[in-house]
Amino acid sequence: MNTLAVVGLQWGDEGKGKIIDLLSKDQDYVVRAQGGHNAGHSVIAEKREYHFHLIPSGILYENVVCYIGAGTVIDPASLLIEIQNLQNQGIDLKNRLKISPYAHVIFPYHRRLDQLQEKGEIHLGTTGRGIGPCYEDAVARRGIRIGEWIDPTTFKKRLQPLVALKNRIFQQYDEAEIDSNALFEEYEIFAKELSPFVESFEDHLDQEILKGKKILFEGAQGALLDIHFGTYPFVTSSSTSSSGLAVGAGVGPSRIQKTMGVTKAYTTRVGNGPFPTEFSQDELSLFASHEIAREFGTTTGRKRRLGWLDIPLLKEAIRINGATSLALTKIDVLDSLDFIKICVGYENVSRPPVFHGEWSNIKPQFETFHGWKKSTKEIKKVEEFPKNVRIFVNRIESLLNCPIEIVSLGPERESAVFLK
Ligand code: IMP
Repeated sequence: MNTLAVVGLQWGDEGKGKIIDLLSKDQDYVVRAQGGHNAGHSVIAEKREYHFHLIPSGILYENVVCYIGAGTVIDPASLLIEIQNLQNQGIDLKNRLKISPYAHVIFPYHRRLDQLQEKGEIHLGTTGRGIGPCYEDAVARRGIRIGEWIDPTTFKKRLQPLVALKNRIFQQYDEAEIDSNALFEEYEIFAKELSPFVESFEDHLDQEILKGKKILFEGAQGALLDIHFGTYPFVTSSSTSSSGLAVGAGVGPSRIQKTMGVTKAYTTRVGNGPFPTEFSQDELSLFASHEIAREFGTTTGRKRRLGWLDIPLLKEAIRINGATSLALTKIDVLDSLDFIKICVGYENVSRPPVFHGEWSNIKPQFETFHGWKKSTKEIKKVEEFPKNVRIFVNRIESLLNCPIEIVSLGPERESAVFLK
């Protein structure tokens, strides 16, 4: 087998898009299998910048076929814009993009509910894209799946009772009700446009895996946003691990041979929730600016929260994913720093807490490293690493006890060094 999952080990935005793009060149298939357009990947290739939310970034290579799997939630309006943008940039999608009929559809009422829930007691800082409410419907066994949606008769029959249910909720919030007929008409047009891409590919994918074809499973978000093992309740609504990818792609767990975990050389988070190594005001003023560090959310444009690398959290993330290797990204963002810290443990506790209320007691213990004070952007070989980069990278590898395979030193496709 020739299969690899690439997953985030932090709170998303680890630079997976760039790593997946680098590895996609030699793949036959790239498969997205969880989350929705809450995700955002940016890729800079041949001096052009591409933004992806749902379509796997492997689509940039003509030889790659891309699948959007059963475990995802799909906002048709957003996906159609993404398709249109790629076509405008000259990317041919015919027979290269397939959407599973098992995936669930995000409707405008999911988005409105997401935004209303955010005004409630727990403000999670979601992306407001309707992801959580759509997964809620899926788990409650009343959601509408792509395969049902593209059949107008089934769609109409399923939509009416759902809209009635949602309208009862909107009444409680004193919100305007939805017109089921208008929604049907609007979404029937979208369904016609997307239906050429809909195909149940799970069986074919399994056969291709067994034939030894190269398959990359593309993770979205990160381990610390995982619905089960993330910093609950400040998490997303899907399983972001490699096992979650197997479930969402419709393949057995034994079909994922290797898992590469992606982590930044520091930590970021968008949205609310615990962040033990978050910078103090002083540290923030010494760090690269958000603009230089490129630390604005791809999906929402929000400024990301910044902090030092957190080894205890990464160890958990590696375990949850069974990661077999690592990619370390955004080393270049640290180029101008006098010193860099890594959290190597927590005072009084041996591992991150389970319950939300316990996070405020967590006190990180740090090791401090000298910066290298040199641009690393043009480095092409490991031998060119400044001594202090080597010390820093080696220490991370030994603390995590997992081999670092790729070090990324900038957003461009070329700015990366393969170590192993
Ligand atoms: P939701 O996925 O929109 O429900 O948001 C739940 C949490 O996950 C919020 O803190 C979001 O900011 C975060 N989140 C969701 N998707 C991403 C992502 O792709 N990158 C980073 N954070 C994300």
